[in-house]
Amino acid sequence: MTAKVLITSALPYANGPLHFGHIAGAYLPGDCYARFERLRGKEVLYLCGSDEHGVAITLSAELAGRSSKDHVDLFHKINQEIFSQLQFSFDHYSRTTWPGHYTATQEFFKVLQKNGYIEEKTEDHLYSEKENRFLADRYVVGTCPKCGYEEARGDECQKCASSYEAIDLKQPRSKLTNSPLILRPSTHLYLRFDLFKEQLKEWILSKKWKENVVRFAMGYIDDLKPRAITRDSEWGIPVPGYPNKVFYVWFDAPIGYISAAKEWAEKIGEPKRWEEFWLDPETKLVEFIGKDNIPFHAVFFPAMLMGQDLPYKLPDELPANEFYMLEGRQFSKSDGWTIDLQEFFKCYSADQIRYAIAANAPETSDSDFSWKDFQMRCNAELLGKLGNFVHRVLTFSHQHAEGKVPALTPYDGADRDFLEKIDTHVEVASYQYEQFHLRKACQALMDLCQTANAYFDTKKPWKLAKDPEQKEELLASIACCLHCIKAIALLSAPLMPDSSQKIWNFLGNQLPLTQETWDAIKKSQLPAGQLLTKPEVLFRKVEDAEILEQIEKLGRKPKEEVKPEAALTSYEPLKKPIAFDQFGDIDLRVALVLEAERVPKSKKLLKLIVDLGFEKRTIVSGIALTYEPEKLIGKKVVIVANLAPAKIMGIESQGMILAAAGGPHLELPEIQQLPPGSSVS
Ligand code: MF3
Ligand code: ZN
Repeated sequence: MTAKVLITSALPYANGPLHFGHIAGAYLPGDCYARFERLRGKEVLYLCGSDEHGVAITLSAELAGRSSKDHVDLFHKINQEIFSQLQFSFDHYSRTTWPGHYTATQEFFKVLQKNGYIEEKTEDHLYSEKENRFLADRYVVGTCPKCGYEEARGDECQKCASSYEAIDLKQPRSKLTNSPLILRPSTHLYLRFDLFKEQLKEWILSKKWKENVVRFAMGYIDDLKPRAITRDSEWGIPVPGYPNKVFYVWFDAPIGYISAAKEWAEKIGEPKRWEEFWLDPETKLVEFIGKDNIPFHAVFFPAMLMGQDLPYKLPDELPANEFYMLEGRQFSKSDGWTIDLQEFFKCYSADQIRYAIAANAPETSDSDFSWKDFQMRCNAELLGKLGNFVHRVLTFSHQHAEGKVPALTPYDGADRDFLEKIDTHVEVASYQYEQFHLRKACQALMDLCQTANAYFDTKKPWKLAKDPEQKEELLASIACCLHCIKAIALLSAPLMPDSSQKIWNFLGNQLPLTQETWDAIKKSQLPAGQLLTKPEVLFRKVEDAEILEQIEKLGRKPKEEVKPEAALTSYEPLKKPIAFDQFGDIDLRVALVLEAERVPKSKKLLKLIVDLGFEKRTIVSGIALTYEPEKLIGKKVVIVANLAPAKIMGIESQGMILAAAGGPHLELPEIQQLPPGSSVS
C-alpha cells in the first residue's frame, strides 16, 4: 500500500489579496513539499481554501460598501488566481462558505456538546442601540484603559500596545457610526478547553517539533481556560439551537481542512475517500502555518479533534515559519511598503518568484525580501549557475555529439568523482525537502550547479573536441554533464515546476517528469542515443534599471491613499454579472456634438444635437452642472445608440451620453481620432 500524506496550508482570509509575505510562510513550503512527496510516489492530498468568516471580513466589507458575500467572492477569486499563477498544485482549493462546511461545522459542534465540552455563560458585551446590534472588538473604538489614547482599537491599543477586552475601553463607541455603546448581557457558548489540558500536554511532548513551536504551545496549555466559540453576528455559521449567533471564525476555519477533504472527495466522485486521509492513523498529516497560527494548530484545534467521536488525525508535523519582511520592514499595504503580486507576475516568471522566495524562506528566523537579493538570485544563481550550465552543455552536445545522448561510461577519475558528487547533492536535497528546509534544498541545487560548472571548466571538453583521438573522453564527459542536467531537473521539480519540465524535455524525454518517481529518476541513466532537443533560454536577465525602479516605488503611498477605508466607500458596489451577449446587445457609437443648449427651467439638463455619421440625433443629457454647452461643441463623445427613445422635459431624447461620475462631478470620455458612427465595444 502506498503511504498517504495529507498536507494543508493555513486557509488564507478572503479579505484582501495575498502578498509575498504570506506566500513565503505557509504556502510555498507546502506546495514544494506536496510536489516532493508526490514525486516520491506517495499518495498526496494537498488542501487549502479561503477562510471567509469573521469580524475582520464583515468590517472591511462594510467599509467597502459591499455585502460580506460579495467581498469574500471577490477575494476568493483573486487569491485563487494568485495561487494558480504561482503554479500551486492544490488537489482542492475550497472555501468556508461551501454549504458542506456549514454542515460539517455544526456536526462537529453537536458532538462536542453531546460529550459535555460546551457550556453556556451570560456576560456583558458592548451593544449599539443605534445599530441595534452587539459589536465585536474590531467594530469598537474608545479610550485606552492604560494610556488614555482616545482612538484605541477594541482589542489592543495601537499607542501603548497593551491588550484588553473591548468592555475595558473607556467611552466605547462604534467604529462605523461613532455612536456610544452600552453594556448588555449576552449569552455565549464556551468550549471547555481546560478539560483537554493533560491530553494535550502529553501529545505535544511526544512530538519532535521545532523548539519554538513546542515552547509557544506549552505556554498556552499551562493556562487553558474555556473560550467563547460564538459571536453575535449575521455573517458566519449559525449555531444550532441559538438563533442570531454564529460560530467564532477560529472555531469553523480549521474544520475547513476536513470539509475541504470532503468537498474534494465529492468532486472526484468518491464521497467516502476523505476518510482514508482524515481517519486513518497511518496517514501522515502535515500542516503548514505561519508562526502567528501556532496556538490554534497546536492547541485549540487539536482539542476540538480530541473531543470528537471519530478518530480524527492530529497533525504529525507542524512546520511553522517565521515572518517574511520587505527590505527590513514588515509588509504594509497602507504605507505602500509592499509588492503587488499581480504586477510582479507581469515582469517575472512563477519559477523566478518561487525560487527567490524559497532561497530565502523565513525558516529559522524572520527573513527579508530585498530587490537586490531578488536580482542576485535570478541573475547569479538561476541564470548564471543553473541556466548557463544547461545551455552550454546542450549546445555543445549538438555540436559535438550529434545532438544525442552518449553512453554513460566514465573515462577517468574526474568523471567518476563528478558522478559521485552528483549523487551526494541529490541525497542532500532529498533530505532537506523531507525536513521542510526549502532554503537548504535551494542551496543543494545551487551546489550541484556549482560543481557542474567547475567540472566543465576543468575538463575543458572544447579542447578535447579539437582532437579526434580524444573522442572517447569527450563523449564520456558530455554524458556525465547530461547526467548532471537530469539531476538538476529532478532537484528543481518541487521548486520550479515549469523550468524543471523544460530541462527534462531538452534531454529528449517525452513524458512529463511528474509521471516518474524521484528514485527512478535518480537511479536511471538517460538512454544512449536519445535525441536531445534544442535548448531555449530558461531565465531572463533582471536589469539594474528595473530593480532601481522597484526600489523607488517602495514607500510611495498608492495615489488614492486618502485613507483606504474612505477611498473604498466611494465606489459603487458592482452590479450583478451579465452574460457577454447581453453586453454585446448594447450599441455604443462615437458621436460628434453639433449643437448644445441648456434645457429651459433645468439646472442639470442640456439638449444636444449630435452627428452619428449616418444620421443626426437629439439627446438630452444631465451634464450641465459640469459642462458649459459651448465647450461641448466639436467634441466626440460616446453614446448608447440603441436605447429606446424617452421624453425628458417634453423633449424626445434619442440616446444617452456616457460619463464617469464622482458625486456631482462628471467626466466625458472623449474620442480623438475615429470618425462619428464608429462603434465602441
Ligand atoms: N485565516 C487564518 C490566517 O490567515 C488562518 C486560518 S487557518 C485555519 O491567519 F486552520 F483556521 F484554517
Ligand atoms: Zn494605550
